[in-house]
Amino acid sequence: MTKVAFFISGTGGNALNLVRACREGRVPGEPVLCITSSPKAGGIEKLAAEGIRSVVVERKAFDSDEAHSEACYREVETAGASIICLAGWLKKLWVPPRWEGRILNIHPGLLPKFGGAGMYGMHVHRAVLAAGESESGCTVHLVDNEFDHGRVLLERRVSVRSDDTPESLQARVYAEEMKAYPEALAAFLVAISPAQP
Ligand code: GRF
Repeated sequence: MTKVAFFISGTGGNALNLVRACREGRVPGEPVLCITSSPKAGGIEKLAAEGIRSVVVERKAFDSDEAHSEACYREVETAGASIICLAGWLKKLWVPPRWEGRILNIHPGLLPKFGGAGMYGMHVHRAVLAAGESESGCTVHLVDNEFDHGRVLLERRVSVRSDDTPESLQARVYAEEMKAYPEALAAFLVAISPAQP
């Protein structure tokens, strides 16, 4: 079974959802480790309750994004994970060639229009409403060295309502995230696993 690591900075809701999907056999992956950029991340306790160890790797302990990212990869590689799922990871992750095509992220908006530097969390939902869009959604994509830029694996859409607030839109998109990430990760892991003889 492919070993999977999760990177979180906050509540860890998506990571927890993925761990449960693995445990219930809906995703053919084995969760092994969580990396968190903050010792205050609420997800640490939630994942510990599921038996997942978290390692705190703070950006401020390093003098570059590359050095910070490499420290994260060292933990992941020591744990034997070959796939990383970013789930609310708020630091810039540098992707060296050996990790290309093996890091997934979920974004709370439709790409490429509502992505890029500074476009995260509520900023996305506010921008969607300000642009008068009739649809929003979430996107699972591969991670490369540009923000929100890698190949799209799966997108789920929601309608924007005339009385939506950023909070109500966020809640509707988040409900889709809970379906999209397990579905995308499952399909990805199946696609990369060697064919059985
Ligand atoms: C999600 O909305 C996800 O799309 C974005 O960060 C948020 C993390 O939420 N990348 P949670 O910590 O998984 O609840």
